[in-house]
Amino acid sequence: MYKILRKERLAPGINLFEIEAPRVAKHAKPGQFVIVRLHEKGERIPLTIADVDISKGSVTIVVQEVGKTTHELGTYNEGDYILDFLGPLGKPSHIDKFGTVVMVGGGVGVAEIYPVAKAMKEAGNYVISILGFRTRDLVFWEEKLREVSDEVIVTTNDGSYGMKGFTTHALQKLIDEGRKIDLVHAVGPVVMMKAVAELTKPYGIKTVASLNPIMVDGTGMCGACRVTVGGEIKFACVDGPEFDAHLVDWDELMKRLTYYRDLELISFEKWKR
Ligand code: FAD
Ligand code: FES
Repeated sequence: MYKILRKERLAPGINLFEIEAPRVAKHAKPGQFVIVRLHEKGERIPLTIADVDISKGSVTIVVQEVGKTTHELGTYNEGDYILDFLGPLGKPSHIDKFGTVVMVGGGVGVAEIYPVAKAMKEAGNYVISILGFRTRDLVFWEEKLREVSDEVIVTTNDGSYGMKGFTTHALQKLIDEGRKIDLVHAVGPVVMMKAVAELTKPYGIKTVASLNPIMVDGTGMCGACRVTVGGEIKFACVDGPEFDAHLVDWDELMKRLTYYRDLELISFEKWKR
């Protein structure tokens, strides 16, 4: 059992949980994730390791409430326990001295880019972080990203805070200004990651995206997380979750993410009752 040491509401529908999991904390690397099961009847859901504190033996996850399990987790509080907290899983991000790295985070993806941005900065890169939110009320971790970035650009779709528009508008502006960009690393909604990939491809800017297909076991056994990259079938849980964004079959990923939507809605409605 894994104890919740701290819970914080970061924004409407987005919760931070600091979980006591010393062995996961000790071995976790940027870009890796855990599979969480709340209780014996719970489903397994993958969540990115957003931060670790090795001295406390804790792992931080940031969770957006989208369906049954993420809402149910939202009802958990400090002192409650989670049954399973399996990890670290997946291949760690490729951290190197690339030069200028642009980190693009959309929504809850902002929490997911934090450990990678931190490691990229420590590796000697010039780090520009673009943080995209729908509106001002949903902005979180701007200061935390500033601590590990040389520049931070916040965008909101409605212009209520920072630059008006999408993360791709901020990225396009950097390109138009002639800024040298050696790597783009994107995490967020699939539509955003696809748009980032389409934007950088003609400029030949190496782009990595962290894919979020449906996962079940997280260890390469079930095939649920199958994605097509460069015409080859990959399992995101063991071969990824990060891949060359220019090679991903984005339309297939989007289609596969909606396969169980009816069942997910039924399950959520049942749980609400
Ligand atoms: P449901 O109603 O079951 O599903 C809502 C939507 O979420 C579905 O339509 C589907 O697109 C997706 N989904 C459903 N089940 C799964 C599943 N088992 N695996 C993946 N996607 C699923 N979300 C965060 O808020 N924070 C994170 O740090 C985070 N990290 C992730 C890391 C990885 C490697 C992956 C693959 C996904 C990550 N997600 C993260 C997404 C998160 O796993 C889903 O939002 C969650 O599983 C939804 O479960 P639900 O029961 O609340 O919603
Ligand atoms: Fe089962 Fe990846 S989640 S193979």
